[in-house]
Amino acid sequence: MSDKPIGIFDSGIGGLSVLKYIHASLPNEQLLYFADSGYAPYGGRTEDEIVERSLAIAGFLMQYEAKALVVACNTATAAAIKALRTRYPDIPLVGVEPGLKPAAALSKTGNVGVLATKGTLASEKFRLLREQISTATHVQFLPQACIGLADQVEKGELQSAETALLLRRYVEPLIAEGADTLVLGCTHYPFVLPLIEEIVGQLTTRPVAIVDTGEPIARQLVRLLTARGLLRQQGPGKIAAFTTGSETALKTAFSRLLHLTPPVATVGATG
Ligand code: DGL
Repeated sequence: MSDKPIGIFDSGIGGLSVLKYIHASLPNEQLLYFADSGYAPYGGRTEDEIVERSLAIAGFLMQYEAKALVVACNTATAAAIKALRTRYPDIPLVGVEPGLKPAAALSKTGNVGVLATKGTLASEKFRLLREQISTATHVQFLPQACIGLADQVEKGELQSAETALLLRRYVEPLIAEGADTLVLGCTHYPFVLPLIEEIVGQLTTRPVAIVDTGEPIARQLVRLLTARGLLRQQGPGKIAAFTTGSETALKTAFSRLLHLTPPVATVGATG
């Protein structure tokens, strides 16, 4: 057993959609959340920039002796998980990738839309995953880069007319091509799930499944910590958060999205 914290990071507040499941399944654990909002969005950044930010953040979390790291960001996982595993070979490391496998199992039409950042969709990791799952299942994946959507979530615009317009532009072609399953391939997007469902409902009467990976990520973390005997026995665990952006914005996001009020501190570039 270990009382040390679990480090979780994202380009911004998107990783809170993963922290929610981690906190629910591991209420005894101490969680450190790092929002790199000063450098968000990651979606349009180069792979090198994301690797540099991810290593800097991981280094910062390691100063608190994190016993495990969760890369709660699809874009950072695609770009930097290899570099992180090389730097921290002995630490349980969990990344996030678009849920193509569960989506393929759910789809009846064989057409699955994948909503993600430009960076995730352009990555070698995504290309390999897509190739592997479509070869095994014959499902056709329709990738849709959602430029600007993570920004809307960062701004707290979960229901605004501008966000609805953007989402409609991204979802409409997928539904028109027969998608009956949509993958949320960015951890920011679960926060606009009600709006996505509303828009899908306006576009089609057929049922459309929406796949999020927050829960499986938490399950994977539980498995890894259990296997290594690293679970914290006594509770409840505390949460603390850091941001390279606005402290108030992160506090607001925690309380509005998760009804939690952890202490939040601003940090510099960390690199
Ligand atoms: N939340 C991130 C993801 O899962 C990225 C959003 C961004 O910074 O572009 O991909």
